[in-house]
Amino acid sequence: MAAYGLITGWGKYLPRRVLTNEELEKMVDTSDEWIASRTGIRERRIVADDETVSTMAVEAGKRALEVAHLAPSSLDLIIVGTNSPDRLVPGSAFLVQHAIGATKAAAFDIAAGCSSFIHALATAYQFISSGAYENILVVGSDAVSRYINWEDRGTCILFGDGAGAVVVQAKGVASDMLQFLLGSDGGGADLLYVPGVCDRTTGTPPNGHHVIMEGREVFKFAVTTMAEASRQVVKDAGLQISDIDLFIPHQANDRIIQAAARSLGIPSEKVFVNLEHYGNLSAASPAVALCEAVEQGRLKAGDLVILVAFGAGLSWAAMVLRWQPLASKEKV
Ligand SMILES: CC(C)(COP(=O)(O)OP(=O)(O)OC[C@H]1O[C@@H](n2cnc3c(N)ncnc32)[C@H](O)[C@@H]1OP(=O)(O)O)[C@@H](O)C(=O)NCCC(=O)NCCS
Repeated sequence: MAAYGLITGWGKYLPRRVLTNEELEKMVDTSDEWIASRTGIRERRIVADDETVSTMAVEAGKRALEVAHLAPSSLDLIIVGTNSPDRLVPGSAFLVQHAIGATKAAAFDIAAGCSSFIHALATAYQFISSGAYENILVVGSDAVSRYINWEDRGTCILFGDGAGAVVVQAKGVASDMLQFLLGSDGGGADLLYVPGVCDRTTGTPPNGHHVIMEGREVFKFAVTTMAEASRQVVKDAGLQISDIDLFIPHQANDRIIQAAARSLGIPSEKVFVNLEHYGNLSAASPAVALCEAVEQGRLKAGDLVILVAFGAGLSWAAMVLRWQPLASKEKV
């Protein structure tokens, strides 16, 4: 796949408020032991009253621009992957564009469940390799806590809020993105969703817009899909799974991650996991994980990385990157 574009900056934002499993024990019939053993999650972050998807995206985006040494006014495009936008209309990307002063940037959101960030990233690379744009901010930001039914123990234990961002720039050299794969199966749309204002299944929800999920079905889909999508994208890139240095899967449930890694034959030291502290960050999950992998020194120049996610839609997305961090030191 001939393509240009390099990730030159990365950043994240996690709200301050920590919601622990012990606190959840007081809210629903659950236990720290159950949550930790069934999901791997110990705590998650929750937005403050004055925080939203766009305010978190702005913070993560500013940090990514700093790392890239790029002025907001140089951005051509902002793409926000999210499932919990500030407003139904317009997308949160417009609020981000104004707040960071990206005066000449176009802006739009992508809503593809927890695969949204990888969809957004793949889209950014297309705009760059076509020659249309040179500097793009890609954000995954979600405040799913706003859509949680805090009486539903099947969902309220899983999700947390946060944002991650990367800057993708045209650098006139081969891309760090070797291959991507996006997929959908709308036949599974009823397995995980938030009803809309006039939802075809539920009509206007009388008790608010809450996450509705068939956990067991999503679990089965997740394990199979993360493994199959990873296998396929690596094959399409002309590589083998054994070539991969770091596997960054969507952080939904540690049992899903470990089962997918086992099926792929990826050893645990090559698997990135941070869900213990954040839970499922939805669209922000792969973005924050990538950012933390860099911050923790888990990625070095030339490393091959799989980013893979699944989610509502049903959706899935996978990407192989050859990490080239030195590019971030180049002057634009
Ligand atoms: C939701 C999930 C953690 C539930 O785990 P599970 O092992 O599948 O559990 P089950 O749904 O089979 O339920 C097992 C039992 O635990 C109970 N249970 C469910 N949630 C519980 C909770 N928070 N605390 C205690 N018990 C709970 C169930 O009621 C059930 O009890 P029963 O056997 O008496 O009927 C798991 O299915 C999952 O992670 N699914 C994928 C969800 C996901 O990733 N969503 C986001 C996609 S982007």
